[in-house]
Amino acid sequence: MKILTVVGARPQFIKAAAVSNILRKEHEEILIHTGQHYDKNMSNIFFEELQIPKPDYNLEIGSGNHGEQTGKMLIELEKIYLKEKPDLVLVYGDTNSTLAGALCASKLLIPVAHVEAGLRSFNNAMPEEQNRILTDHISEILFVPTTTAEKNLKNEGVTKGVHNVGDVMFDAVLHFKKLSQEKSNILEKIGLKSDEFILTTIHRAENTNDKNRLKNIVEALNESGEKIVLPLHPRTKKYVEDYGLKFGKNIMILEAVGYLDMISLEMHAKKIVTDSGGVQKEAFFMGKPCITIRDETEWVETVEIGWNKVVGTDKKKITDAILFFEPKSEQQNIFGDGKAGEKILNIINSIF
Ligand code: UD1
Ligand code: UDP
Repeated sequence: MKILTVVGARPQFIKAAAVSNILRKEHEEILIHTGQHYDKNMSNIFFEELQIPKPDYNLEIGSGNHGEQTGKMLIELEKIYLKEKPDLVLVYGDTNSTLAGALCASKLLIPVAHVEAGLRSFNNAMPEEQNRILTDHISEILFVPTTTAEKNLKNEGVTKGVHNVGDVMFDAVLHFKKLSQEKSNILEKIGLKSDEFILTTIHRAENTNDKNRLKNIVEALNESGEKIVLPLHPRTKKYVEDYGLKFGKNIMILEAVGYLDMISLEMHAKKIVTDSGGVQKEAFFMGKPCITIRDETEWVETVEIGWNKVVGTDKKKITDAILFFEPKSEQQNIFGDGKAGEKILNIINSIF
């Protein structure tokens, strides 16, 4: 069958890396890159390092307001869907590229499969929450990563077509960890040793677009006095400059890094401070304590079993967690068995 996959943002390239090559063993896949992320270190580096098949189409939509960005994607996607006539459209996660990919298919009565369905923050102000809810409700096949995601869908009356396959990002870490150990020399490059630094990422709109929240985060990192490595998302770089915020000498700012360097940094960090969805999960996979600088998380299991502490953007809560948070319990298996990609293939085969 012909599967048309839509990706556009960094975490979607990583998720597709875990699934595309498996689907291609048995099916024709057409890969569309919307161009939502376009800098080399936000896009091309992942295709090169992770051997993701080259996109058949790059829409080069770029940045913009939500309506403008999503609308432009819809216009271009529709032309391709009409030409390619896929049997199924596959989308990942919760970005504007996810929503555009799914909505365009739904309007043309093409079935949609959503990987990472059912996640909820219950914060409707998040663009990601809007994208997820809308995408889930127009998808025929919903691949959920956790039992919580399955319950969330049930609470919204969505039970048909729901399959708990585990998390594709777990597949990706298991698959690329060895390659990262072989290829990444990021620690030598930055002159740090294992376990002597805290890894941080910040990019969530609710943090960057609010001067007070971003200021609190930067000041908490400065005041922690810990060595902090911060690969900076371009969105955050822009707002830090606009607000005139200053990082302390204890903070090493890097450009956003590729996935192999990123998982090496995660493997060697003492703790991880993040507002990223993917990085919260990867902290768990690497057995690292995670401090989440948000008011809520979708990955509630990591909090419930004590490996993730949600601290919001209160300065003292962040510094206390950086200095003192230690998980007290053993990890449990909450993200499946690392074979989500194969399960996705088998389920698609059983339906079509
Ligand atoms: C998007 C997703 C978010 C996801 C994140 C992954 C939406 C609504 N948000 O957020 O869910 O967690 O990707 O990283 O889809 N920029 C560049 N170069 C790039 C890409 C972006 O400079 O290659 C800058 C631009 O100033 C742009 C800003 O970053 O305006 C935000 O980019 P955008 O794709 O709109 O949202 P993200 O914050 O990346
Ligand atoms: N990541 C990366 N380089 C970086 C920061 C993150 O490769 O500089 C990877 C990270 O390991 C994870 C994914 O990007 O696999 C998470 O994406 P992001 O934080 O941008 O988005 P989210 O998961 O919050 O949607």
